Amino acid sequence: MPMSNWTVTMPSPTAGPTPMFLQLAHGVMNDIRRGRLLPGQRLPGTRAWAKSLRINRNTVIAAVAELEAQGWVHSTPTRGTWVRETLPVEPRPTRRPGLPPLGVPLEPLPAFLTPRSFQFSDEVLHLSAGTPDPRLFPVELLARTWRRVVRRKGRHLLEYGDPAGHSSLRQALAGMLSDLRGIPATEDQLVVTRGSQMALDLIARAVVAPGETVAVESYGYRPAWDALRLIGARLAPIPVDAEGLDVDALARLLRRRKVRAVYVTPHHQFPTTVTMSASRRLALLELARRHQVLVIEDDYDHEFHYEGRPVLPLMASDDAGVVASVGTLSKVLAPGLRLGFVVAPTALADRIARLRAVMDRQGDHPMEATIGELIEDGELQRHVRKMRVIYQARRDALAKQLTAKLGDTLEFSLPPGGISIWARVRRPLALDVWLARARARNVSVNPGASYRFDGHEPGALRLVFARFTENELTRAVDVLKASLP
Ligand SMILES: Cc1ncc(COP(=O)(O)O)c(C=O)c1O
Repeated sequence: MPMSNWTVTMPSPTAGPTPMFLQLAHGVMNDIRRGRLLPGQRLPGTRAWAKSLRINRNTVIAAVAELEAQGWVHSTPTRGTWVRETLPVEPRPTRRPGLPPLGVPLEPLPAFLTPRSFQFSDEVLHLSAGTPDPRLFPVELLARTWRRVVRRKGRHLLEYGDPAGHSSLRQALAGMLSDLRGIPATEDQLVVTRGSQMALDLIARAVVAPGETVAVESYGYRPAWDALRLIGARLAPIPVDAEGLDVDALARLLRRRKVRAVYVTPHHQFPTTVTMSASRRLALLELARRHQVLVIEDDYDHEFHYEGRPVLPLMASDDAGVVASVGTLSKVLAPGLRLGFVVAPTALADRIARLRAVMDRQGDHPMEATIGELIEDGELQRHVRKMRVIYQARRDALAKQLTAKLGDTLEFSLPPGGISIWARVRRPLALDVWLARARARNVSVNPGASYRFDGHEPGALRLVFARFTENELTRAVDVLKASLP
């Protein structure tokens, strides 16, 4: 365990008949036994130790002598005192993982919640990770801008502020939504969140009561399902096909049951990448208006569209106030920044901001103002344009490799946008065996089953290309080919 640089708080003597130097020594022994003071750890100098407890230094010197005599510490005059590496007893770690929190068993968490680990190793080519290439992140630009912004507005940025997000970012986002996505949003319709995940959680809390039904796409985005399920929503999976969500299937559900909301990814359906057809968009909006269903639109990678112009979000054509649109900077910049937003009718946005204040008070306003400035200056737009060219080249490189080397195993359509290719297995094949073998050779790919509501394997897989250079993608496809069962 790394040693900290804190001045260690030493146990205080207690009242009682035992001489004070012994009380001090016993306090230290006890802290060593329970694992608070660790072998090799340096104790404070006798002068500082005595001063911190407001006692005579000679008492501390006597306590150290006692501890040394009993084999707990060793000290070198003028240099200091350390806990011995070999102790009279085995210390017990302070945190005992086997104990239930609070000392009482808690209700188990719902089984759908995934384990916490989420680490990417540099040795592995994670074609399973839906994230941009961190090596292309504009570190210098961001650092420079952050410094400038905090220098200029620090006094105000470092205070408590609006839970809906820093005004400069909301204004910049409103401009972006209007210019680029055709949504005439105003600042008071926008709430900045820590990634779209928080936006989804807040929308769920703001709109859905436990037991109410929410329709979701299947295939679909599990983290959104989890946010909805956690607040008690009943999820109704609706199939997707080559035109996106099967709106007729949704209409049939609506005839049977009240549905509070529907979660969709119409721009590039997650994970199949198809763009929802114009007729389905109109039909979905009309259904939502007629049945008063909130459409939760996740427009997570709007900026990465390679063929023609991006299709406008559903919200751009919503004149009934039935759409809340969620966006993220996780794809255009980096997921570690945790910046997303929701744009919604004003009353809903206000409700969401008030709920946000309870869980997080406000976001990281210095960073929000920095990103606001990057948008105002056109820097973010420049970065996006640069990334679009790179990612398109990577998409084409992966597609070429897959066709050349796995053409008899996989089939796919070139995705019009996004950062991944959805491929179907075209012959009988043990997909799990194949992907496990590739994983053992440091290439990780997600099977289609992980995006399906029922968890059944459809014989498909998702290959993310954005993170890797063309050489790395070639290597990944070579490994996949060599791993075929
Ligand atoms: C469908 C979808 N929505 C949203 C996100 C982004 O999530 P967040 O903004 O919480 O990082 C992703 C990223 O993987 C995604 O695939």
